[in-house]
Amino acid sequence: MSGDKFISFLDELRENMEIMVPYVPSPLEVVEKMLELACVTPRDVVYDLGCGDGRMLIAAVKKFGARKAVGYEIRRDLYEELVKTIEREGLSKRIIVYNEDLLNANLSEATVLTLFLTTTANEKIKPKLEAELKPGTRIVSHEFTFKGWAPQKVAELSWHKIYLYVIPDCNAHSRK
Ligand SMILES: C[S@@+](CC[C@H](N)C(=O)[O-])C[C@H]1O[C@@H](n2cnc3c(N)ncnc32)[C@H](O)[C@@H]1O
Repeated sequence: MSGDKFISFLDELRENMEIMVPYVPSPLEVVEKMLELACVTPRDVVYDLGCGDGRMLIAAVKKFGARKAVGYEIRRDLYEELVKTIEREGLSKRIIVYNEDLLNANLSEATVLTLFLTTTANEKIKPKLEAELKPGTRIVSHEFTFKGWAPQKVAELSWHKIYLYVIPDCNAHSRK
């Protein structure tokens, strides 16, 4: 494939990726509350789908001692900035980020999943989460719920709401 063809192939690929939600970072106190609610420990592998500037991933490994953190971020500029931050902080062995659509994420290693998307985006990824996440995986969603799933806990921080779901208990009702 020639260089030009390869570039247009990449452009086409990028156009097909779907930006589900604009970049709005979670306040740092919400980030901490989410990781606290998920009871993150050094045994955990924390995934943030739509990881923005990587604050969730960095807090997961630095403050909560998570074994590993994995992020997916569709915006190239945010991804590139985050790669630099991870290198600067010396966290390259514990944080891995992909400049990819979160719908293509490989979730096989996740024990905790953090999200700050929208109700519509949550609906879209719900079948993927149900199919791919291991039993016992905790999902923490900032602000947005999953229709038909029962949260195990709900926390409030000023006007922010955080929902904790546990696979597969959260969808026990919809499986009946
Ligand atoms: C509301 S921000 C949340 C950022 C971060 N998780 C936080 O809590 O601070 C949503 C992020 O998802 C990213 N995003 C949107 N659609 C995406 C997709 N299809 N795949 C991967 N990332 C996506 C946006 O670029 C943005 O950085």
